[in-house]
Amino acid sequence: MDDFVTLTYNGQEIKLPVAIGTEGEKAIDISTLRRDTGFITLDPGYANTGSCSSAITYMDGEQGILRYRGIPVDQLAEHATFKETAYLLINGKLPNREQLTRFSVMLNDNSLVHEDMRTFFSNFPRMSHPMGILSAMVNALRSFYPELNTLEEEINLTMTRLLAKVRTMAAMSYKISRGHKVIYPRPDLTYCENFLNMMFDTPVKPYEINRAAVNALRVFWILHADHEQNCSTSAVRVVGSARVNLYAAISSGIAALWGPLHGGANQAVIEMMTKIHEEGGNFKKAIERAKDKNDPFRLMGFGHRVYKTYDPRAKIMKKMCDELLESLQINDPLLDLAKELEEVARKDSYFIDHNLYPNIDFYSGIVLRAIGIPTNMFTVMFAIGRLPGWIAQWKESLDDPQWKICRPRQVYTGNQEYNFVPIHARG
Ligand code: SDX
Repeated sequence: MDDFVTLTYNGQEIKLPVAIGTEGEKAIDISTLRRDTGFITLDPGYANTGSCSSAITYMDGEQGILRYRGIPVDQLAEHATFKETAYLLINGKLPNREQLTRFSVMLNDNSLVHEDMRTFFSNFPRMSHPMGILSAMVNALRSFYPELNTLEEEINLTMTRLLAKVRTMAAMSYKISRGHKVIYPRPDLTYCENFLNMMFDTPVKPYEINRAAVNALRVFWILHADHEQNCSTSAVRVVGSARVNLYAAISSGIAALWGPLHGGANQAVIEMMTKIHEEGGNFKKAIERAKDKNDPFRLMGFGHRVYKTYDPRAKIMKKMCDELLESLQINDPLLDLAKELEEVARKDSYFIDHNLYPNIDFYSGIVLRAIGIPTNMFTVMFAIGRLPGWIAQWKESLDDPQWKICRPRQVYTGNQEYNFVPIHARG
């Protein structure tokens, strides 16, 4: 197999090296293209453009494969804790017992939030969206935790502080928005147990740890933990490439994830399903609207830039819905509606021809509803899950000798040069 491609233009010929990934993916290395030819490439939305080489997550969109550091995501969902998965993504391997204990102690010791931050939370308007609050408060962490003396200390402690505090901040925001007493993290609870306890414990009704809910949250967060160069991860890498602190880079990832085309889709799916249900359950109108080129409506939770088959995470999430709702003895009409809609859509030629399948967001909201998470916090739950992936990707870019500030070029289509016209001559 050739290790280069040849471009010809107006008799000019250039050979460009081919980079081949571990799983055989091929890329044309164009890093010398403009220097050698004066040309740039054009790829709106970067659908055909690799921004980096990465050893963290492998996806095959045609086969529906997803692996974190080589381990299939379904095996992690079956056997791992979220803490182990976070450690794997960031450090490149599963922790041994001693490493896991040390990681757990670090997370526990850093899980409190500076008490002065509570006034920040309580001064947000009550109807503020939790994603806007989270993005702002993560950015504010730098003000409470200034830069540390050595780069290694700065990186390691900042990563740990983010992982440890994000749950506390999310639960604190929820409690304060309801005027409820803030519940602190406890050293005797696991990562997932602690979050649920901070969310639902009250002085008059202690929260009873529900094993099925804890397991569902564990799987939910593992399935969301990383997804190679998606929109929000790319935002973290781009912002991080300016060598801004990690809090600010993560805050930009949270902002990107908020979008309804990205992480905000999990909230949008439930809002779409609730509306269909309230209007009698006729989802055929939604399907017709989704197919109508003149209608901006999209079937939320369907389609994916990379997966042109069933999102492997959606398969696990769909199964989790059945198991969790049975265990909690909940009958959620939106689950039945989602399954019916999926069945009809997947037989429709439009969805077949466009390779549109359920993605992770299609069923994830059903799991969160069953656990008791309010709909406007669904994307916060996605962010907490994705945080280890964002951190791992940011750290990989920091360690990459080829990495430089991200600054794409453009094809200019504006006015050619003309002179300034003073106001009196402009009519
Ligand atoms: C996430 O990238 C990641 O990995 C993201 C994520 C992660 O873990 O980080 O997986 C998380 O963001 C999942 C996606 C959540 N978003 C949604 O569910 C919103 C609904 N989906 C779409 O908006 C869309 O499918 C995207 C945004 C997910 C992907 O969009 P693309 O790759 O830019 O595809 P496109 O918009 O160019 O669509 C291609 C065609 C178009 O039709 P044509 O003009 O070619 O005829 O498919 C159609 C689109 O109109 N299409 C849809 C559709 N999604 C695509 N038509 C109806 N309903 C949809 N949902």
